[in-house]
Formats: sequence, C-alpha cells, structure tokens
Amino acid sequence: MDFENKIIDESRQGEALIKDGNNEGSKKLFLESYGCQMNFADSEIVASILIDKGYTTTQNYEEADIIFVNTCAIRENAESRVRQRLQDYKKVKQKNPDALVGVLGCMAERLKSQFLEEEKLVDIVVGPDAYRDLPNLIETAESGQKAINVILSKEETYADISPMRLDKNGVSAFISIMRGCDNMCSFCVVPFTRGRERSRNPESIVKEAKEAFDAGYREVTLLGQNVDSYVWAGGGLKKEILTEEQKANAVNFAHLLEMVAKIHPDLRVRFSTSHPKDMTDEVLHTMAKYENICKYIHLPVQSGNSEVLERMNRGYSREWYLDRIKAIRTIMPDCGISTDVITGFCGETEEQHQDTVSLMKEVKYDFAYMFMYSERPKTLAERKFKDDIPEDVKKRRLQEVVSLQMEHSAYHTNKAVGKTFRVLVEGVSKKNKEELFGRNSQNTVIVFPAGNHKKGDYVNVKVNRCTATTLIGEVV
Ligand code: SAH
Ligand code: SF4
Ligand code: F3S
Repeated sequence: MDFENKIIDESRQGEALIKDGNNEGSKKLFLESYGCQMNFADSEIVASILIDKGYTTTQNYEEADIIFVNTCAIRENAESRVRQRLQDYKKVKQKNPDALVGVLGCMAERLKSQFLEEEKLVDIVVGPDAYRDLPNLIETAESGQKAINVILSKEETYADISPMRLDKNGVSAFISIMRGCDNMCSFCVVPFTRGRERSRNPESIVKEAKEAFDAGYREVTLLGQNVDSYVWAGGGLKKEILTEEQKANAVNFAHLLEMVAKIHPDLRVRFSTSHPKDMTDEVLHTMAKYENICKYIHLPVQSGNSEVLERMNRGYSREWYLDRIKAIRTIMPDCGISTDVITGFCGETEEQHQDTVSLMKEVKYDFAYMFMYSERPKTLAERKFKDDIPEDVKKRRLQEVVSLQMEHSAYHTNKAVGKTFRVLVEGVSKKNKEELFGRNSQNTVIVFPAGNHKKGDYVNVKVNRCTATTLIGEVV
C-alpha cells in the first residue's frame, strides 16, 4: 500500500473496472470511479444494471461506446481531477462522434445541469439515486438530446440489485447498508450530494453477504456515512417517527453486525464509518463477542478542539470523543483505531490546531487520513464562516499532523514485531511476485513469502520486521 497516498488522501483515484466482457457485437462500457468506498460500491450497481441491458465492459476507454465516470465532490481537488480526466475523453469523441460521455455520482449531483453547460462534451448527468434510470437516459442521449436525472430519493437503497463485483481480488467485498447522511457537518458536501439518510433492509444485506461468501469472498465491509445510526423498523421507517414498540423491535447496527457475523466464522466483517457522537458500547461489545468482526474502528475526529468541533457541527466535544476512545480500549484492548483530520478549518487558531496535535498524541492512531480544509459551495460553513486560514498555514498544519502520524504509525508497526497475527490473504505483493499480502484484524498490511498459500486463505504470520505502515513476516 502506498503510504503517502494513504495518509494524505483516502480517495481512490480513477480505477477502471477490471472485468472485460466478451459479448461480441454489444456496446462497450468503460466505467471509472473516484471517491470513497460507497462510490465504488455504487459503480458495481451501475455495472450490474448496464450488463443486464446487454453492455459489455472494457478497460480501454479509447475503444468504448460509452464512458461513465463516477465522481466525488468532497474537496475541490477531487473535482479538478475529474475535469482533467474529461480532457482525455475528448479524444475518444473526436475519433468516434457517436460515443457518449456520462458523469455519475456526487459531482454530477452537486452541479446538476450546470455540468452540461460547463462541459460541452458531457452527454449524460446522473445523481447517486437515479441509476435505475440509466438505460432510459442512455436512450435519450443516443437520440441526440442531453440527458439528466439528479433526483434524490428518500427510499432508494438498490436493495434488490445484485452488484457486479468489480474488485481486483475476489476476497473482499463492499456492501452498502445505508445511503445519504442527515448530519450536516458544516464543512461537508455529502448531505447535498447523497440526500437524506436511509437504511437498507437487513435481510437484503445478509443475503448479499451470504452470496459473496458463497462466491469465495472472505471479507465484507459494511458501508455507510454513519453506520451507528443504522436502523430498520420495517419499510425503512425513520428513527424520529418510531413508536416505543417499533423502536424496541427495530434492527440497529449492533444487531446487523451480529447477523452478518453469524453467516460464517470464516467471513470477516468490517465496517465504515463510525460516528463518535453515535457509536454505542453495544456495538463495541458485539465486536468483542465475535472473533470474525475485525478489531478495527475508523473514528474520524476532524479536530481536537471543542470550539472548532462546535463550528463543524459534529455533535461532540473533545472530552466526549476521548471517552469513546477509552470505551474502545477498555472493551477491546487490541483494537486498531484510525481517524480523519481536517487542518485549517474556518477560524482555527494556532492553539486550536495544537489541540488536534495533542489529541493525536493522546490517542496515538494506527492510521490517519488528513486533509486541508476545502470550502464547498452551499455547505453551512460556506454560508456562515470565512475560509480565513491562508493556504500556506493550512499546509504547514497538515504537514505537522502528517509527520506526527508517521511517528505513531511506526510506533504501532514496531510494537507488532515478534507477534503472530491471523491474516486473510488478499493477493500477490506488488513488489515481489514470490510474496503474498493480506491484513490482520487491526487492518495493518502484512507481507510474507507465499509458500503454498493463495488468496482467500487464512494464515498465521509471525512479524519479523516492519516499515512505518507495513509488517513483514513469515507463515508459522
Ligand atoms: N461520514 C464520514 C466522512 C465522509 S467524508 C464521517 O463523518 O466521518 C471523509 C472525510 O473527508 C471526512 O471525515 C473529512 O475529514 C474529510 N472532508 C470532508 N469534507 C471536507 C472538506 N470540505 N475539506 C476537507 N476535508 C473534508
Ligand atoms: Fe459529511 Fe458529517 Fe455526514 Fe460524514 S457525518 S458524511 S462528515 S455530514
Ligand atoms: Fe466523495 Fe461522494 Fe464519497 S463526495 S467521498 S464520493 S459520498
């Protein structure tokens, strides 16, 4: 894993789908995804819908009849990357004027029809809740009109669509358990691009996880912007309107975790993202109870200063957050913990930044994803506060937290030397074909000589040495 990339920006960039179809004569689809894991999971829904309609897939955009790019809007640079990429697609259109270019996902939702005006080359714009409409939209575009559907839904969860797995390894699958977000953190564009929070029917989630296991997958990651607020009381009823009786019978996130963990002891369960304001001890106890629920929690803090957290509208204070860390460490002493940090948020003083530094020193995270604040149109912060921290100060603060995190990551990997971990093999190491890699329960990557082992196997690996982010060992 690329440390630099991992530590600065979690978003995967422009990975194209990797399974090529071989349906002679049918139209060729090139689908590329940016952004978070939810976007990658959505691309699997999109691929499933289009393959059902007879499309085959290609890894080479130059030979595509239709190019879709699933976009992210979280920070300005996520959007500029997509704009740059559109320049490459221009070439395809020059060669094949009938080729169509479609923009999907969060940036499509944010810009709506403005996208069609700004980027003349784009034919189709589709928001995250409108993928069922893709076949119609393509037809419209084929008839020469521009096509757009950016309607957000309060119900859509794509529960009945079996995703076309596009991952590289066939070991680890992502499953969306909810969509949207109701939190309105003041810096964040997601509530605007993905709409209201809604949970998916737990039966459809368990069914999908079972199917993945039967297809050879050995790990599922349950995805939501705030998994701790998952609730299913039948028919997707919202939390706020539940009666006492409905509440008592509702499936919450702890229950859902247990349901998925029970599918098979050899199916590892991970999840992302936990929200500090909503993470319950019940979830932690469920994690502790099942060996196959990985001992790893991503708990984004954003800032270590309570006033900044208040301005961010995060719904917790520094003290509350540290209490949640204490609960994790008490209930699961061996749990890996990671976080997200934003530097240079509106009005952040040097002292407030130092509070983030001191919180990081107190928690000593295993990993962290760190970002400079990037103002997003329409968000609460854009409307209420001034983006007043100069770029160079944001950058200096970012560098400070990044180098601190390097030390902490190295501290954790060094502590792991000499220990033995159960590792799920994910594939052949990029650097050395004779070696395999996988992760331990705590989500740290371990590399070791392959022997007779193969991806999908569980092996016990003793760690002999490490880098700042990777453990190196041998099977015992
Ligand atoms: N739902 C998740 C976060 C999803 S976005 C949660 O609440 O934790 C992933 C991360 O991007 C956030 O945790 C935050 O650290 C970062 N981020 C979001 N908006 C940002 C912005 N405007 N500028 C910089 N970083 C941002
Ligand atoms: Fe954005 Fe906050 Fe929702 Fe996370 S919880 S997606 S940061 S609004
Ligand atoms: Fe980006 Fe949308 Fe995910 S804005 S981070 S792709 S929810």
